[in-house]
Formats: sequence, C-alpha cells, structure tokens
Amino acid sequence: MTTFDYTSDYFWRLALAHDPRILTQMELHPGLNCGLYRCKYCFGHGQALNAGPYLTGEEFEAIAASLGELRPTVIISGIATDPLTHPDIASILGSFRRRGFPVGLYTKGHNLDASVREALVEGPGECFVTISLDAGNAVDYERVHNIAPTRNSEMAYAASFENILGNIRALSALKREVKPDLKLRASILVFEEMAQPGKLAEAVDLLQDDVDLIRVAIAQDRNDGQRLETLPQNREKLLSRFVEEFEGNPKVRILTNSHTPTRSTAFSRCVVQRTQVTIDKSGNVFPCPQVALAPYRNLCMGNVREMPLPDILVSAKRKAMFGLDVDTELKCRICDRKDEAINAAVGGHFEAFNTASPPAREAPARMVAEPVAEPIFFRPR
Ligand SMILES: C[S@@+](CC[C@H](N)C(=O)[O-])C[C@H]1O[C@@H](n2cnc3c(N)ncnc32)[C@H](O)[C@@H]1O
Ligand code: SF4
Repeated sequence: MTTFDYTSDYFWRLALAHDPRILTQMELHPGLNCGLYRCKYCFGHGQALNAGPYLTGEEFEAIAASLGELRPTVIISGIATDPLTHPDIASILGSFRRRGFPVGLYTKGHNLDASVREALVEGPGECFVTISLDAGNAVDYERVHNIAPTRNSEMAYAASFENILGNIRALSALKREVKPDLKLRASILVFEEMAQPGKLAEAVDLLQDDVDLIRVAIAQDRNDGQRLETLPQNREKLLSRFVEEFEGNPKVRILTNSHTPTRSTAFSRCVVQRTQVTIDKSGNVFPCPQVALAPYRNLCMGNVREMPLPDILVSAKRKAMFGLDVDTELKCRICDRKDEAINAAVGGHFEAFNTASPPAREAPARMVAEPVAEPIFFRPR
C-alpha cells in the first residue's frame, strides 16, 4: 500500500507551475583548474572539462546583466576546478555582488587573496563563503587533497594548510570590520584521518573563532561510481559519536544523513532542473553542477557565447529535458545531496499515484508554448 503524500504532491505541482525563465539558482564554474589539488574523492575526479576558451570577466558581466531584474542565488564553485583559479575572479564576484545577487562561494581558499576578499565584502546582500578544509593539520591536509609536488615555492605555499588558515583569518577579520553578515563556513569531509579520536576536535579548535559554521559530512561516491578506499568504516556510528562529542557547540553541524554515500534511485524525473542552471568556464549551460563535464556533453542546452542566457532558458532542448527519464534518457543519476533530496521528495508523488508515465503529467502546454506576457521578477535585495 502507498500513502498519499501531501508535501510531495504540493511540491510537484509547484515545480510544474514554475516559469522556466525564473531561475532560483545559477551556478558558475569559472575556474580553469585546481592548482596543485588532485583530490581523489572529488565528484569529477579524472573527468575532462568541456573544451573551449574560458569566459572573460566581461563575459561574466554580460551574463549578470542579461538576467535583468532576476536575482537568483549565484553559486560560484566548480567540479574538477576551483573557482578562484580564474584570472578575473575578483571582477566576476564584483559583477554579481554589486548588483545585489545573493552570492555563495565554494573554494579550497588557496587563492583567497586580498582582491577576492574585498570583492566578497563589497556591496549589500547575502554572501556566504565555504572553505573546503577537510583536515586539522598540515600533514593530513596535504594527504587528503593529494597535493602535487612542485619546485614552485609560491604555489606550494599557496596550497599549504598554513596559508589556507591565514586566508580564513584574514577574511574573518575583514568581514567583522566591513560586512558582519557575511557567512564564513568551513566544510570538513571525513576520511580515515579525521575519524581518529581527537582529530575533528583539533580542526574545530583551530577554526571556531573565525568561522560561523563547521559542516561535517562523509564524502559521496564519485561521479564515475567509484567509492574512495579511504572512507571511514562504521560511518553511521562515527557520525553519532561526533554528534555526542560536539553537542552544545553551536558552530558544529554534523550531516548525519551523509553516512550512505550511494545515490538515491527513488525518482525517475528531475524537477530541480526547472529552477536552476550551471554555466561552465567556457559558457556551456547545463541543468546541474554535477554534469558540467565532457562526459555529459549531451545535456548541454546551449552556450552563452552563441545565444543569450534568457533564450537558452526557454529553449526547446531545455523544456524537453524536463520530461526525460533520469536513467534511460538523461543518463546521469549523479545528483549532489541538495538536488537528490529535492528530486527524491517529489519522487514520492509518482509512488503515491502509481504514475507509469510521468511526462503525461507534464507542465500545462500553455506554459511551454506561450510564455506569460509579463514575467514575474524577483526584486533586488
Ligand atoms: C567540487 S568542489 C569545487 C570547488 C572547490 N574546488 C572546492 O574544492 O571547494 C565543491 C564542493 O564539493 C565538495 N566535494 C567534492 N567531492 C565530493 C564528494 N565526493 N562528496 C561530497 N562532497 C564533495 C568539496 O569538498 C567542495 O566543498
Ligand atoms: S574537490 Fe575541489 S580542489 Fe579538489 S579536485 Fe575537486 S574541484 Fe579540485
């Protein structure tokens, strides 16, 4: 027997009613590479980026302007790249910060220099920065991120634990002075090193005066389906141990549901693609961050160099993808935790209605064929 799930049904209907022009999230992957980082756990480890010259600061400025009054949350991150390796990154951040877009940055932090820090605190509106640290000392830091050896002492220092901590402290001091509402977070993926008693406490001690939140999780399986050998054993127990150890510390958040690093198969349609896009360093537009790589080139719905983003958002290819089966047509099934949680929640709708062919319940034809005359815009914050 299946039960009717009001929440799932409600969100499914909201998704169908959504105007595809109104993005709620846009993720940008401006980075050219990862410097010396070769993290074996990385979602995109070993997978090629799409070929093509990288977008300049001016081209990112044009993307920001092309959104008119829309103000989706802009996530600046990467998959198999670090966003701060783009030579114009401070100006790219400025293009979105100045216009009042809510901006979230995910980075290792090795290039979090003064110009980037200044761009992050410039202007009003929401800004959050997550530094992926994954370690509490220099030796673990180098091992977990598989830092490449080099004779270039400047690059070696940039990727050192000491430099990352220094950059976190410098941003923390600046935010206190100029923009106290900037949220500075550290993220810690737990591998064998961090599972040893006292190791997480060592990292927390170092960070807690300077960051607003320390997020602790187990890494997910990579996009090629490989599970890292150095994932800790007894993951559920380990996370419960962390919950007990840091109970009462308001800055530590343990993602207790991250103990299973496998992908969910509870849904067959992707609803999150209706509200978000990801743009890679060369301007290719994809439905989500996990597929912005050469092996998923078939899911690219256009390039901002060839067609303005607002036109790509209403393109026939994008709309057709809304109805495709995740396993047999999109051929991805590699969502990250956020998108997977949303898709799985709405997937309950199909279960409740025992709907054999969900595309038949696709958005009302008028939404697809005749866009409403006056789009509803979000106002700048
Ligand atoms: C792919 S990285 C790109 C941005 C930047 N290079 C960095 O490492 O922060 C974005 C976020 O994904 C996280 N990440 C990478 N591989 C992961 C995995 N297999 N499971 C969970 N999180 C992962 C990183 O720790 C980082 O916080
Ligand atoms: S986690 Fe980040 S720095 Fe590490 S390889 Fe992946 S994209 Fe690069």
